[in-house]
Amino acid sequence: MARKDLLPEVTEFLSQKQIKMFVAGKWTTAADSDTFQSFDPGSGAALATVAHGKAEDIDHAVNAAKKAFKESGWASMPANERAKMMHRLADLVEQKQDVLVQLESLDVGKPLAQASGFDIPNVAQTLRWYADFAAKTQLKKTVTASGCKAYQTNSPYGVTAFILPWNFPLLLVGWNLSPSLAAGNTVVVKPAEDTPLTTLYFCSLVEQAGIPEGVVNVVPGYGPTAGAALASHPEIKHMGFTGSPEVGREIASACGKNLVPVKLELGGKGAAVVCNDVNVNETVEKLVAAVTLNTGQVCCTATRWVVHENIWDEFIDAATEKLKSIKIGHGLDPSTQMGPAVNEKQRKRILGYIENGINQGAEIILPGGRADVEGYPNGFYVKPCLLTGSQDNICAKDEIFGPVAYLMKFKTEQEAIEIVNGIDYGLANSVWTNDLDRANRIAEAMIAGNSWINGHNLFYHGVPYAGCNLSGFGGGVLGPDTLFDYLRPQSIVSPL
Ligand code: NAI
Ligand code: MG
Repeated sequence: MARKDLLPEVTEFLSQKQIKMFVAGKWTTAADSDTFQSFDPGSGAALATVAHGKAEDIDHAVNAAKKAFKESGWASMPANERAKMMHRLADLVEQKQDVLVQLESLDVGKPLAQASGFDIPNVAQTLRWYADFAAKTQLKKTVTASGCKAYQTNSPYGVTAFILPWNFPLLLVGWNLSPSLAAGNTVVVKPAEDTPLTTLYFCSLVEQAGIPEGVVNVVPGYGPTAGAALASHPEIKHMGFTGSPEVGREIASACGKNLVPVKLELGGKGAAVVCNDVNVNETVEKLVAAVTLNTGQVCCTATRWVVHENIWDEFIDAATEKLKSIKIGHGLDPSTQMGPAVNEKQRKRILGYIENGINQGAEIILPGGRADVEGYPNGFYVKPCLLTGSQDNICAKDEIFGPVAYLMKFKTEQEAIEIVNGIDYGLANSVWTNDLDRANRIAEAMIAGNSWINGHNLFYHGVPYAGCNLSGFGGGVLGPDTLFDYLRPQSIVSPL
């Protein structure tokens, strides 16, 4: 990597002969010494060589996590002792924020401002929130029942496993690992093959924070090999997966065979219901920001824009103008508002959906397509796209995972709700109106794990975020109850 705008520490990290995996507190090569490349989707160039983990490496990692659960003291120490280490880890994430921001921006293609304004600081915040929450939560609870004396304990499960995607790599490490670690479990992570870098760098911070060896293990590798081996490993006690419904089904099947509880977050097809009393320009600005965030590769974003007929024309004009003005570029260019798709497969998926949608009769308002960015002829850039048409169109139903919005018109509240609920996903929708009664009415009627009012992509520590139906099950993230997803309840009972 010969970029001049990189921090020396980033250049040094990327130019290692290989970035090794982190197992049992040691940096190790794959058992078969294999490696793979991680790419910069903004330039199409190889970024770094990474250890290529497979089933044998996963087995080592799970065994290390099992040993650490039994012997390292992590599981048995008081929650406030674990909290101290998690806060130390959060301090280190904050100290190394600039390094992590550059690595995340390069590996995913996301704009620097997004990585520095959301992804990376959020990791430290989540670690701190769960560390504190676990430390103040009473895990031994009295149970009142007639005829007996009873109480309940809540203990960590053991080895918890995570298979994570490429859209928010380190942020999702924060959201997923924090409650599990705070509860006293040990973890094995398989990051996405496109974006393993920040998760591996994070391991060096885990080491410095003094978290015992084997508590956190990271095995980079591909889904059908490393991922499948982790999901079907007989020694894991809980599985967490974020990604596509297709892979979610395979992981749930593997967990079903071993009777391991599984938490699935499988994407969405979020709607925004825009009522006739809004400030159109302000609403458009926020929805365009939502659909172009991370190049539209966001599971909960608003891609179906359900707009009242009275403001339809004004909305279309404002949205077209705004979408056209989005500056597309390399993530490291500070003026970039939207980076590339994560890889060529994802770009093809986005362009293929647009083509299919048009073939099925969608009307083009803004055509989208490949984007050219000067200086980066091999980057995977796409333009924002705006379509309209029937709610049965493939672009109105399927998760595209790109900057493609699909407009649908409504007259009555009931029509709007039917459009919103006419799909299989159930992750997140929003409603936009100044009438708070109407906002709450529509918000409650939209079937999904999350309904947002006058905003989209709203995340707060302490507010549960989960999906239903095709978007997943098994508990969510960010909520207080999430801690209990990683604790095994046990009733202790004696007769009176
Ligand atoms: P994917 O579901 O294949 O990848 C997610 C993770 O699963 C990666 O770590 C991958 O290595 C792993 N994986 C893949 N096959 C596996 C297997 N057989 N066993 C165990 N682990 C496996 O997602 P992909 O192909 O990268 O993206 C396809 C679509 O999935 C996207 O266009 C998007 O619609 C959706 N997606 C949703 C995400 C979300 O945030 N809910 C994140 C990423 C993708
Ligand atoms: Mg990459």
